[in-house]
Amino acid sequence: MIDRRTLMAGGGAVALGAATGVGAASSRSLAASARAKGIRFGSTIGIGNFADPGYRQLNAAQCGLVVPEVEMKWQALRPNARRFDFRAADAIVDWARSNRKGIRGHTLLWHFERWMPEWTRIHDYGANPRAEATRLLVEHVDTVARRYAPAIDSFDVVNEAIDPDTGLLRDTVLSKPLGAEATIDLAFHTARAAAPGAELVYNDFMSWRTDDGRHRDAVLRLLDGMRRRGTPVTALGIQSHLGSKYSEAPTGLGAVDEAAWRRFLNEVTGMGLDLLVTELDVHDNPLPSAIGPRDRQVAAHTRAYLDVMLSYPQCRTVMCWGLSDRYSWLQPLRPRPDGLPKRPLPYDADFAPKPMRDAIAAAFAAAAPRTPARA
Ligand code: G3I
Repeated sequence: MIDRRTLMAGGGAVALGAATGVGAASSRSLAASARAKGIRFGSTIGIGNFADPGYRQLNAAQCGLVVPEVEMKWQALRPNARRFDFRAADAIVDWARSNRKGIRGHTLLWHFERWMPEWTRIHDYGANPRAEATRLLVEHVDTVARRYAPAIDSFDVVNEAIDPDTGLLRDTVLSKPLGAEATIDLAFHTARAAAPGAELVYNDFMSWRTDDGRHRDAVLRLLDGMRRRGTPVTALGIQSHLGSKYSEAPTGLGAVDEAAWRRFLNEVTGMGLDLLVTELDVHDNPLPSAIGPRDRQVAAHTRAYLDVMLSYPQCRTVMCWGLSDRYSWLQPLRPRPDGLPKRPLPYDADFAPKPMRDAIAAAFAAAAPRTPARA
């Protein structure tokens, strides 16, 4: 039992949450809190955590939408130019459907040479490389989108096509013969033909950090060009990897420019595009070692960010890139100065709710209702 003194001190909230696996700030799941305002909430599931029954249970309890963390990427689906291997992706899709979860597809094309399968670099593109690059791209996007639509009603069609340091479009083995814009357009047109009712998303990690203006401007140029060319993009996926960049921010979670961020979001929604928060987590490297202050700063940053994002009625999807600190891509990335595990997600490594979880619930509670997303 939680004694009255603890409850009055608010400690009961955490204790209760720990006991029930949901934040006591809301006995409702995060998905239910979001759904009440027309928002879909979810998280990744996949490599590493899909095999953990505790994680599956937490995900099933809190999420209304899931996205495979790696299983639908070229590197996972394409052992070579001739074959697809859908086993891992199908297992996640089957689990999601049996648990009545929506599913996001990530990603039909990660337009970043580093993340294309090795064989694409030694593949024989023949006498007409443009034709072979076109064939490979159309076959991949068409095959994957047709296999999973309409169970998947929202695809990250193209991911991270811009080099944030230069503001230029990246080049890959496919875009070298085709051209970068033509490659991106072809992916979207192919996805539209294969999944007529799906939300088609351009996904990238431009951010509200003060030093990210070049990246934001480049994304606006890309989206404006797509719109002028009639490319069927319907939304911008904002990854939302908050906090310090992988290079250590001197203090805190890095300087942010809300006014510049709102100008960016106004431009994007002014093009008629929806907004998705697709990969929310908070990199806490420069924050204090003590868990209490660290978690509170992460929660405050999360709440401030989501209040901005959810002030846009076009934002109808909020996805975390993982639910539990036990499984975060950030853990092996550049260790904290104190060597302690990072705490980037709404639940801790033992699946107990953290202040970040209650900050997300509070942001949903404070948000104005909006017309729900597709599903
Ligand atoms: O499964 C193999 C394992 O068998 C092998 O021993 C090990 C050796 O390195 O690699 C394992 O695969 C790793 C895979 O994650 C599964 O853990 C890959 O090396 C590793 O590159 C891969 O990292 C993923 C990364 O995307 C690249 O696909 C991260 O988990 C995933 O969180 C990250 O997610 C990206 C989004 O797709 C796009 N936005 C940024 C985000 C974070 O980088």
